[in-house]
Amino acid sequence: MDKEAGQFGPQKRAKRRVKPIHLALIFLATCSVSFSLIQNVLSSKSTQENVPINAQSIVAQCLALRLTPGPPDNFHSRKTSDRFEQGTKPTVIRNATIWTGQHDGKEVIHADILLDKGIIKKIGSVDLQLYSDAEVVDAAGAWVSPGIVDLHSHLGVDSAPALNGASDTNSLKGLTLPWLRSLDGLNTHDDAYRLSTSGGVTTANVLPGSADAIGGQAFVIKLRPTMERSSSAMLLEPPFSLNGTHTDKFQRPRWRQMKHACGENPSRVYAGTRMDTQWAFRKAYDTARVLKEKQDTFCSKALSGRWKDLGDFPEDLQWEALVDVLRGRVKVHNHCYEGVDIDGMVRLTNEFKFPIAAFHHAHEAYMVSDLIKKAYGHPPAVAIFATNARYKREAYRGSEFAPRILADNGLDVVMKSDHPVLNSRHLIYEAQQAHYFGLPANLALASVTSTPARVMGQDHRIGRIIEGYDADVVIWDSHPLSLGAAPKQVFVDGIAQLKAPYSSAKPKGVQHVPSTPNFDKEIADAIKYEGLPPLEPEKSEPEVVVFKNVGSIFLKNPATQRVDEVFTSASAEGVVVVKGGQIVCSGSVSACPDALSLSEALHLDLEGGSITPGLVTYGSALGLSHIPGEASTNDGPVFDPLSSQVPRIIDGVLIKAADGLMFGTRDALLAYRSGVTSAVTAPRGGFLSGLSTVFSTLAPHKLAKGAVIQDVAALHVRVTMNSRVSVSTQLATLRSLLGKGASGPLGDVVSGKIPLVVEAESADVIASLIVLKKEVETTSGTRIRLTLAGATEAHLLAKEIGQAGVGVILQQRPFPGVWEQKRILPGPPLTQSSAIAALVTHNVTVAIAVDGEPSSVRNTPFDVAWAGLESNGALSRAEALALASSNVETLLGVKESNTDLVATCGGVDFEGKVVAIISPRSATVNLI
Ligand SMILES: *[C@@H]1O[C@H](CO)[C@@H](O)[C@H](O)[C@H]1NC(C)=O
Ligand SMILES: *[C@@H]1O[C@H](CO)[C@@H](O)[C@H](O)[C@H]1NC(C)=O
Ligand SMILES: *[C@@H]1O[C@H](CO)[C@@H](O)[C@H](O)[C@H]1NC(C)=O
Repeated sequence: MDKEAGQFGPQKRAKRRVKPIHLALIFLATCSVSFSLIQNVLSSKSTQENVPINAQSIVAQCLALRLTPGPPDNFHSRKTSDRFEQGTKPTVIRNATIWTGQHDGKEVIHADILLDKGIIKKIGSVDLQLYSDAEVVDAAGAWVSPGIVDLHSHLGVDSAPALNGASDTNSLKGLTLPWLRSLDGLNTHDDAYRLSTSGGVTTANVLPGSADAIGGQAFVIKLRPTMERSSSAMLLEPPFSLNGTHTDKFQRPRWRQMKHACGENPSRVYAGTRMDTQWAFRKAYDTARVLKEKQDTFCSKALSGRWKDLGDFPEDLQWEALVDVLRGRVKVHNHCYEGVDIDGMVRLTNEFKFPIAAFHHAHEAYMVSDLIKKAYGHPPAVAIFATNARYKREAYRGSEFAPRILADNGLDVVMKSDHPVLNSRHLIYEAQQAHYFGLPANLALASVTSTPARVMGQDHRIGRIIEGYDADVVIWDSHPLSLGAAPKQVFVDGIAQLKAPYSSAKPKGVQHVPSTPNFDKEIADAIKYEGLPPLEPEKSEPEVVVFKNVGSIFLKNPATQRVDEVFTSASAEGVVVVKGGQIVCSGSVSACPDALSLSEALHLDLEGGSITPGLVTYGSALGLSHIPGEASTNDGPVFDPLSSQVPRIIDGVLIKAADGLMFGTRDALLAYRSGVTSAVTAPRGGFLSGLSTVFSTLAPHKLAKGAVIQDVAALHVRVTMNSRVSVSTQLATLRSLLGKGASGPLGDVVSGKIPLVVEAESADVIASLIVLKKEVETTSGTRIRLTLAGATEAHLLAKEIGQAGVGVILQQRPFPGVWEQKRILPGPPLTQSSAIAALVTHNVTVAIAVDGEPSSVRNTPFDVAWAGLESNGALSRAEALALASSNVETLLGVKESNTDLVATCGGVDFEGKVVAIISPRSATVNLI
């Protein structure tokens, strides 16, 4: 349902002459101030005395205050887009399967699409002879969606790579700054534009940051490069007021956007409290209210002809934007997480009578749907992350089921990136995860297209595929809600954005909407326990557990340290019998003849699912943190001897992560439930972090059997260009540490007993490390086991890294966040190979790391499958599984391999759900 349709639809203009008293009513139904309307006011009896010379202009201005924002009446008869770039040829996309976004997101059309003059000119059968100059793209039945719309982005103001000169997100000049404009910081050279476009993102709402209660005005941009190369040329329907005094007082205004933030961020930045922030809001809104009332008094006098001593129209450049909020002309985007904050904002909207377009982040929104509906005007939409949570108190109760719960309560759900917090290139992944956890497919696709378009007041031209809309469309290599879906081509304003796109060959099954598992119980529990449902699994009572209808079995091979596919059955007729946590029989039914009739056993139907090795995670502070943003819940940082004075008492002491381990964190248990059953975690340090440890993600405490799997795994060092000391100083220090006389863990590194894990991003640093490795080896006559972590630019040295026998642990989705990560290998559709595939091709042992956030660990199974999907055959499913199991163990020196097995019910990727973990070590089967 188009909730704001009334503001956009074609509307009748009052034609007949009317008395002034009726003006207001009739006027509300129009989109612009007509000349005759002004004449009506001026010619009425009461207006004959003291009429000033600019009366016409004043009346126009006053009448225009009542206009609701939106496109002009004749918008839909446009023949050319205002964003059309001269010289762009028409394009015909033939044979597309189009998700139009119409009919509640349930319409799918098989047709051709004609893009011309920046507009979707036709959907249907296109006669190519009429468009002989057109580019013809054969979609061959591929899915086509509207361009992805990101409601919450900092593209251009928080640019990649991050440099001192490129942070324009937050002004710290005061708590309420409604006069600031994100446009003023919009860098046209952000590396991320091209990357995000390659993920299908065509439009983004560029918001100021959340340091302030009112951070300033946001601007909607299209992500493509423009011929003018200016920031302004990127804007989509900017408010006319951008040109200052040249605003056309007769025209219907365009929607404006503004950022608000409550809760922790303004409190932290201004050393204040929620009370201070809320007062700052009230004070600012009261200033705007007073100004608005002065304007309204002025106008009521002018419109009723009381011209005497009228004076000038009350104006204030600093407050005009907030007055526009009170006039309902601004889409307010409110960073607001917790129930307490949402409550405060709902009160504020009712005190000052303005609507909020969307609550953003809003990790507790799903618990307070009824409260949200009490907001003034209309219920705000809720714009959230899928699974990124628990990073601070405000996000601690975040639930992956929030999108579904909010939708069930009738609220608009938007998935957003907060780019670069999440890389908006993968915004569709947020919608995919929301869908996996229960949001219906139509709403999941709408959550990144039509819904955000409507929430930002641009759904008269973007967010759906309709004739007359902007020519922003994406051709996908698989169904956009399937894991790893990547664009084959992306059009913005009818211009193809991918010069030479590459596609991975995708399996057939990914061309339809994934049929996702049932999470009804988990959804009910999320609400019942206010976001903190119990996560511990249950032990199977029967000692024997029989898994039937098994589709595939993958096991680690201890001899080769690889993962092998040991059984596969297209008809899903496999059986696995487990007794005391050990597989006693597996394979086809005939291999385990009595299994299905074992009466004492627990029988689990995997519905074609799989048995796979328990995964091992690395790359976050899992096990050293409950809430990363809360110091009092963390193990804390390790002194960096190169950038701070290390207290004498610990000088020379190597820190062991094992000493700081904490068990039972929500992220660890969620990881376990998704099949990540052990973790390698290093202390959180600078140059010399210390010694990593291996632990169980399920164990309740350190003294429990099997909690600490290995006290010390590897020695961890970081060499970075973002240090207080030079890279050369860091290398010299490392050389000296590994030189003659190295003892203890350093001696173990030199003798090859434990691996040396160096976090390094830049190819230049990596090259220096390879040289250093050889140097040390020549001196010592031993062989160092070097593993590179981070390693965003490692693909540039794939051959040399392979030859040096060095392993690499990297993220599945690279991003050029800082300069030393600038040269990423982005993978399809921008490059043929992904970084993982490039390294694997050179015989490098590769493992996958998470992005640093403990809440991401649970998504490791998705990372693994995604790496396989985009490898173009370079990785089999077994090899992909090894990326987050045996390879992690090899590269991090894990001696006692994780022997858990994960039973997944249903299909692969988004179609499966972990139902049990088979644990030989604890002789149990744990039921999820
Ligand atoms: C559209 O593409 C599908 C898949 O390649 C193909 O089977 C079908 O024949 C095509 N239809 C037309 C009209 O070209
Ligand atoms: C601002 O003025 C310029 C030059 O007159 C015009 O091209 C542009 O469209 C105007 N922008 C807006 C938002 O009105
Ligand atoms: C990788 O290893 C295989 C098998 O040992 C070998 O045939 C191949 O040449 C190696 N490739 C590279 C790029 O070193």
